[in-house]
Amino acid sequence: MAKRTIVAMPGDGIGKVVLDEAIRVLDAVGFDAEYIHGDIGWECWRKEGDPFPARTQKLLEQHKIGLFGAITSKPKDKTEAELAPELKGKGFVYYSPIVSMRQKYDLDICMRPCKTFKGNPLNFIRRGFGGVIEEPIIDTMIFRQNTEGLYGGVEWTNPPDQVYDALMTHKKFKENFAWCPRPDLAVSTRIFTRKYTTRIVKAAFEYAKSKGISTVTVCEKPNVIRETSGMMLKIAQEMAKNDYPGIKVQDTNIDAQMMWLTKNPETYPVIVAGNMFGDIVSDGFAGLIGGLGFACSANIGPEIAVFEPTHGSAPKYAEFNPSIVNPIAMVLSAVMMLQHIGEMELAAKISKAVGELIEEGKVKTYDMMKLAGNPDVFSKGAVTTQQMGDAIISKLK
Ligand code: NAI
Ligand code: MG
Repeated sequence: MAKRTIVAMPGDGIGKVVLDEAIRVLDAVGFDAEYIHGDIGWECWRKEGDPFPARTQKLLEQHKIGLFGAITSKPKDKTEAELAPELKGKGFVYYSPIVSMRQKYDLDICMRPCKTFKGNPLNFIRRGFGGVIEEPIIDTMIFRQNTEGLYGGVEWTNPPDQVYDALMTHKKFKENFAWCPRPDLAVSTRIFTRKYTTRIVKAAFEYAKSKGISTVTVCEKPNVIRETSGMMLKIAQEMAKNDYPGIKVQDTNIDAQMMWLTKNPETYPVIVAGNMFGDIVSDGFAGLIGGLGFACSANIGPEIAVFEPTHGSAPKYAEFNPSIVNPIAMVLSAVMMLQHIGEMELAAKISKAVGELIEEGKVKTYDMMKLAGNPDVFSKGAVTTQQMGDAIISKLK
């Protein structure tokens, strides 16, 4: 088979160190690939006024598969302030490059698995009947709509005339918000389209069907956000009725769902949600299986797919040398990539190695020891990011 080409986009901060480890693990398992570096992130913004440069876009269009570390995004006042002097005042506007990437390439299906690793000291435990301590086994796949909703980027402060006039045609707006001076009014839209809502719901049902799972949980808030959440729930209910008779739709509200996380998380094997609620509920579930050091994800579009840990660039640890952060989330994202391209055997080998390593419990990064992230973690027994990579590699043999 021809050598695979993968676009490697480390981005900012700890994105670089974790991606290096994932590539070392991929090499060690025998995945025959060439990694083509793609620039992305805050440095590109500062120096070029574009955090997702056209040359990186071309690479993705050509090679179709990307591994992504993390980027740094900063609040509005910092974006202009940190631009190179010659670019200031030239009308450059910052958009999060990962959000732009998802939208540009229709990477609308976001999958975020949250699966308990046996022996992980960070596993969630709870008190059961009679005071017994239970450690529930969680195996949830979260389907997050990745391109629309509250993260769609359609928003204004001091909305222009047409927008304001249109808002004023809405009874609720007129009654409750007309008092607000326009410059003090900020509006972020929550747009759901039938096409993309159907796609994410369908992806959740297909996954459930393929795994023999009998429920799909729509985690939204249709009782209050009647139009958008309501649309997703209705689509799911109709789909279950027409196309997946063996699968039942559970309907939970995002707020109650967060409470149920600590009560009965094992009863939600498949969750589907819009962009923001999917983001929230997936971080919540990640907390039950070890936190951001373990949370991987896939962004899948019709042609292009990009795999990334759900954590960010963790700037406070970016300069640590040696690095302390956990590369497992990135390594597991690489596993999702292998599964996506059909390299099931290699994917299984890495998953098994990671599972064994965690269960053995000898090699731990600082987060697995519940330590504060300080440079002294090594003297307390934590391993470096690279040592964790080495340990995974040694388990592959
Ligand atoms: P973050 O995920 O970077 O870090 C939050 C905390 O989680 C860290 O301080 C650390 O305690 C822990 N953590 C994260 N990754 C870890 C790892 N691999 N091992 C061990 N511990 C880990 O989120 P934060 O602090 O909210 O954001 C930092 C920057 O990252 C911001 O600029 C934000 O915009 C960006 N960000 C980027 C994302 C992306 O690239 N997809 C996603 C989330 C945030
Ligand atoms: Mg998040």
